Amino acid sequence: MLKSCGRKLLLFLVGCMFTCLLVLMADQQKRQVEDLGGEGGRRALQSLASPGEPKGLPRQPQLQEGEPGLAPREVKSFTDYFSKLSRGRREAQDAGSLAPRREGTPRPALEDITAQDVFIAVKTTKKFHKARLELLLDTWISRNRDLTFIFTDGEDEELKKRTANVINTNCSAAHSRQALSCKMAVEYDKFIESGRKWFCHVDDDNYVNVRTLVKLLSGYPHTQDIYIGKPSLDRPIQATERISENKMHPVHFWFATGGAGFCISRGLALKMSPWASGGHFMSTAEKIRLPDDCTIGYIIESVLGVKLIRSNLFHSHLENLHQVPKTEIHKQVTLSYGMFENKRNSIHMKGAFSADEDPSRFRSIHCLLYPDTPWCPLNVVY
Ligand SMILES: *[C@@H]1O[C@H](CO)[C@@H](O)[C@H](O)[C@H]1NC(C)=O
Repeated sequence: MLKSCGRKLLLFLVGCMFTCLLVLMADQQKRQVEDLGGEGGRRALQSLASPGEPKGLPRQPQLQEGEPGLAPREVKSFTDYFSKLSRGRREAQDAGSLAPRREGTPRPALEDITAQDVFIAVKTTKKFHKARLELLLDTWISRNRDLTFIFTDGEDEELKKRTANVINTNCSAAHSRQALSCKMAVEYDKFIESGRKWFCHVDDDNYVNVRTLVKLLSGYPHTQDIYIGKPSLDRPIQATERISENKMHPVHFWFATGGAGFCISRGLALKMSPWASGGHFMSTAEKIRLPDDCTIGYIIESVLGVKLIRSNLFHSHLENLHQVPKTEIHKQVTLSYGMFENKRNSIHMKGAFSADEDPSRFRSIHCLLYPDTPWCPLNVVY
C-alpha cells in the first residue's frame, strides 16, 4: 500500500519535472525565434503595420499568425517537437526578410557575364564636366568606355571627343526633383534600348570597380527580379502616393541611395516599364513627390513587391568613407568622396599620390587596381 503510494508520488514528480522542462524549452525557443526575426526586420514590420504606434511599449513575445504552434501539449515526441521548432525558426527568418536581404560578399558565379553585359549610367550636369567627370574619364571610365554612358544636360564638344557615349538628356540643369527624375527616365529608356543584361546607375562622384561589379552581378540571374544597392536610411521611407485628385495613400518601402549606385536586372527593368518608360517615370515620381532614387525603390518594392538586396560594397559620400578598411578597398564595387559632417570625406589609404595631389583618392585607387596604367608610379607601397 505504502509502496504503491510512493511509486505513484515518484511518477507524479517525474511527470511534473518533465512538463516543466518542456515549458521552459518552449519559452526559450520562442525567444530565439523572436531574436531570429531580427531587430531590423521586426522594426520594419512594426513600422509597416502601425507607423503611429507609440514607442517604448514592451514587446509581446507572441508569434506571428501562421507560425506553427509551439505549445508543448501539441508535442507528441521530441523529434516531432524539434522539427516544429526548426520550421518555426525558418519562418521567423522569412519574416525578417521584410528588411532588405543582406549580402556582404559576392556569391559564386551563376551566370557567365562580361563587362559588355552591363550598362553603367553616370549622371552628371554640365557644370561638373570639368570638375568631376574628367577624373572619372582619367580613371575607371578609361578602362570601360563602351559600357559607360554619360547622362548630362548640356552640349559639350570637348567631352564628346573624349568618350563616345555622351547623352544630352535635354533635362533642366537644376538639381530639382523633376530634373533628376527627367534624367533617370532617359537612363531607363536608353538601357532598355541597349539590350544589355544589367542596368547600373552611379553619380559623377563615384569610382566604379567594374571587375568586382561584374563578379557581384554574375551571382544573380539577370532574367529574374534583382534590385541591388545600399539604403541610406535605417528604416523604410514613408511616403504618400496620390491615388486621385484628393485621395492619398501611405506607403513604406526601402530604396537604394543613388549616391552609392545601384543595379537592376533586365528582367526586373522590363517589369518596371509601365511606371518607368517613356514619360511614365516622371509622372510616377510626381505621384509620390520624391527624388529619382526613391521613385525607383517605390516602383520596385511598393508597386512590384520585389525586395531590395542590400550590399555593403556600394558607398556614397553620405557615409564615413574612412571606415572602408585599407585591405578591403579592392573588393568594393563603388567608392565616393565629398563632405561628411563638414569634413573632407574620402577613402583612407596611402596610395600612389598624396591627399593633396589626389583629394578624392580616385587616382590612387585606380593605380591600386590597374598598376599598369601609364601615369601610375612604379613600385608603390600600399
Ligand atoms: C535632345 O535634343 C536634341 C536636339 O533636339 C536631340 O537630337 C536629342 O535626341 C535629344 N535628346 C534626347 C535624349 O531626347
